[in-house]
Amino acid sequence: MNRLAGKVAIVTGSSKGIGAAIAERLAADGAKVVVNYTRDATFADAVVARIAASGGEAIAVRADVAKDGEPRALVEATLEAFGKLDVLVNNAGIYDIDSLDTLTAESIDRHFSVNVRGLLLMTQAAARVLPAGGVVVNISSGVAKSPNPMAHAYCATKGAVDVLTRTLGMELGARRIRVVGIAPGFTETEGNRHLPRDLIQPFIAKTPLGRAGQPNDIAAAVSFAASDDAGWVTGSTIDVAGGLVF
Ligand SMILES: NC(=O)c1ccc[n+]([C@@H]2O[C@H](COP(=O)([O-])OP(=O)(O)OC[C@H]3O[C@@H](n4cnc5c(N)ncnc54)[C@H](OP(=O)(O)O)[C@@H]3O)[C@@H](O)[C@H]2O)c1
Repeated sequence: MNRLAGKVAIVTGSSKGIGAAIAERLAADGAKVVVNYTRDATFADAVVARIAASGGEAIAVRADVAKDGEPRALVEATLEAFGKLDVLVNNAGIYDIDSLDTLTAESIDRHFSVNVRGLLLMTQAAARVLPAGGVVVNISSGVAKSPNPMAHAYCATKGAVDVLTRTLGMELGARRIRVVGIAPGFTETEGNRHLPRDLIQPFIAKTPLGRAGQPNDIAAAVSFAASDDAGWVTGSTIDVAGGLVF
């Protein structure tokens, strides 16, 4: 399928997990893709190599979305490499398990600085150059609507993401730029591989389709959101969770 032919996309946090699958899917749909990471270039380079091996085009760019100036530098690097930007996927996110006993001020700040401040600063930097027809896709989570007391700080950030999908959609609609949220259910990735099976099993047991999500399940929904097929969708968040209500 070539529904994103001629488009240029940034996928934040796309060296691993859901972001890596989104980067590969958008490239398979014809977009030129910027694969973003913060820590280890090896993983990002591997995603770029897989895209190239499938006939696509991508580059890896290091930038921490939570750090002042780095979202803007990421957009500048995209313009330098590909000359424009059409699609921003705000996927970079962190999640820790907590409780009122274990929460710390540092952990609350860290979650909000990546998941909320990073998303907002990335969108601000991208909005300066997105054309009419441009798209911002925000990766939310099922926990925004059905929160879980195992992760207070994380759930609160994803509630904020859904509000921002709405407010950004309202502001950017006047420029014909769409903003769409995608809310995954539990999805197996590098970020949660270390979690004990007995913590994950209850989520799968409550999923009508009877399995955990895979990164490609989420990438397919992002491909739709970024394409003209979703031309009448903005300011709202789509559940992609196998029917799971947390
Ligand atoms: N997995 C799930 O079950 C699930 C469910 C609902 C929603 N989500 C959401 O989906 C998104 C991806 O989750 P995942 O499970 O795929 O995560 P993951 O496997 O931990 O991968 C996270 C990616 O984000 C990058 N990253 C982290 N902090 C960053 C920052 N400050 N700036 C730029 N990149 C950064 C990481 O790169 P480095 O390692 O190089 O830093 C990595 O590429 C998150 O927003 C998460 O909240 C996940």
